[in-house]
Amino acid sequence: TIKIIMDTDPGIDDAAALTMALNDPEIDLKLITTVAGNVTVDKTTKNAQKIVRFFNKDVPVAAGAKQPLIKEFEDAARIHGESGMPGYDFPEDLPTPLAKTAVEALRDEIMSSDEPITLVPTGSYTNIALLFSEYPEVKDHIERIVAMGGSLGMGNMTSAAEFNVFTDPDAAKIVYQSGIPIVMVGLDITMKALLTPDSLSQLEHMNETGKMLHDIIINDGDNSDDGIAMHDVNTIFYLLHPEAITTKDMWVDVITDGPAIGETVGDIRGAYHDGKTNASVCVDIDAQAFNKWFLEEVSKIK
Ligand code: BDR
Ligand code: CA
Repeated sequence: TIKIIMDTDPGIDDAAALTMALNDPEIDLKLITTVAGNVTVDKTTKNAQKIVRFFNKDVPVAAGAKQPLIKEFEDAARIHGESGMPGYDFPEDLPTPLAKTAVEALRDEIMSSDEPITLVPTGSYTNIALLFSEYPEVKDHIERIVAMGGSLGMGNMTSAAEFNVFTDPDAAKIVYQSGIPIVMVGLDITMKALLTPDSLSQLEHMNETGKMLHDIIINDGDNSDDGIAMHDVNTIFYLLHPEAITTKDMWVDVITDGPAIGETVGDIRGAYHDGKTNASVCVDIDAQAFNKWFLEEVSKIK
């Protein structure tokens, strides 16, 4: 099994990614940490707990950063709704979050693990940047970072920047310069692997998990006739089915100010950094395989 920690801001697609991570037998989800992003951290924490409670799992949740390192916080409630996860009546008797902060919980979990852990951030990378500054010793115990965020070709906030990196570009820069291998699961693939309208309607009547996902996904402000991007779910798909995704190793840097703030710049020809690389960038995906897998995963749950 693959030992992971998810650092997340649910968020509709985050909720779907958590659904897969909590239920797939190949994944051992040790800890969930939350960050401000799609909505405030109080809400993302509550939403993470709602998903954990929905599946009656006992994975701990620790609340993290309320705001980015430097930049002012701007949410994405226009896409994910005021609550961040609208459309379904989740149980209200939620487990209590851990008493410690996300950074402390990350440190404790990573340092006490008998094997290196994979970090899966699907929100902005504020908690992880803070972790690396406060406890640099954790870096030797991290297998790699499989992060949703960034893109080579386009943005979904500005024409240059993707939301998670745009939200906290300073944190993203620290993470990309950390020396830990990073898989950049960005818009280059997440905008290709849309969950089709047909897949979405199949979810509705599949089982209670399918209904829950359907009911929240139809509220996503980016839903269209072509389908809906399940950005964060691509991280879990990558972990389980790397053969369905094409990657290209390169050096990636992050723009932290000016009009291109939040842009991830890839040295696509390897020329500028003399062939040195810090990231494996996802550049293509089998969208049909993604849809098929998504439905299969949900069909195996309650
Ligand atoms: C990312 O932004 C958030 O709104 C989504 O949850 C995803 O993590 C996509 O750009
Ligand atoms: Ca997210």
